[in-house]
Amino acid sequence: MTLISWNTLNTLNVGEIDAQHHRLIALVNELHQTMTSAQGADKLNRVLLELIEFTKLHFATEEKFMTGYAYPAYEQHKKEHEVLLGDIEQLLQRFRNGDFLIPFAIELDLESWALRHIETHDKPLGDYLNSKGVF
Ligand SMILES: [Fe+2]
Ligand SMILES: [Fe+2]
Repeated sequence: MTLISWNTLNTLNVGEIDAQHHRLIALVNELHQTMTSAQGADKLNRVLLELIEFTKLHFATEEKFMTGYAYPAYEQHKKEHEVLLGDIEQLLQRFRNGDFLIPFAIELDLESWALRHIETHDKPLGDYLNSKGVF
C-alpha cells in the first residue's frame, strides 16, 4: 500500500528539490511497506537510517539554496528542519532501545510534517527561487 502519492505533493518547480521530495516520499512509503509486511528489524533499521540520512541531505540542499540566494525567511525555515531532525533522532534512539512501535511514530511524524512543511515552507521558497530565475 502506498501511503503518500506524488500528486498530493506540491511541486516547487525547482528540479533538484522536487526530485528530493519524491525520493523522500518514496522512502516514507518504503518504511510503511517494511512495517506492514513484518520484515526483520535489520531491514527496518536500514530503511530508517536511509530515511534520516536522506532527510539531512535534503535539508542541507534547501539551506544551500536559501543562503545562496539570500532567502529572507532562512532562519525560520532552517529552525523547522532542525526541530524535525531532533524529533526523529530521538525516536530512532528509542527504537534502538527496543521500542518497536517507534517506526509508526516516525512514519506519522514524517508523513504529516512533510506534507505540511512542503506546503507552508518549501512552496514559498520555490516561488522565491523561481523569481530569481532558479528552476
Ligand atoms: Fe524545507
Ligand atoms: Fe523540503
